[in-house]
Amino acid sequence: MSRIALGADHGGYLLKASIVDYLKAQGHQVIDLGTHTSEPVDYPDYALAVGKALVQEDADLGILVCGSGVGVTVAANKIPGIRAGMCHDSFSARQAREDDNTNVLCLGARVIGVQLALDIVRIWLNSSFSGAERHVRRLGKVKEMERMGLSARHGQ
Ligand code: RB5
Repeated sequence: MSRIALGADHGGYLLKASIVDYLKAQGHQVIDLGTHTSEPVDYPDYALAVGKALVQEDADLGILVCGSGVGVTVAANKIPGIRAGMCHDSFSARQAREDDNTNVLCLGARVIGVQLALDIVRIWLNSSFSGAERHVRRLGKVKEMERMGLSARHGQ
């Protein structure tokens, strides 16, 4: 069983609630970092909270939900050590763990339904990094990109 930190904005909090129920029923330890209402909030705040939980080793894995899944993916991947992947199908969910060793799953509540989301969560949690040499090498290059600290001139 894992310690799983969850976060969502107003576009994702209802799906998050279903995922929290599912994870608890599976016996996982859930750290629900909000939000809990439809009051508009900013998705980076929740991506940061989940990312911090992983960095501080309060959680093993994270799940983030916003309307599209894109905002939380972009935000979470700004935190060194976070490998966040948006998965809206079972193939991506499995590969995101086996090949890419993601530690945060991102979902778009306005894109997929609850049952598909729960299937994706189940597959993602039940998959693990293959440790294959080519994937270790590729992730090493991703890590090196973090260290470079490059900044796009036209990035906001
Ligand atoms: C909020 O309106 C929306 O922008 C957010 O939930 C997400 O879809 C961003 O990517």
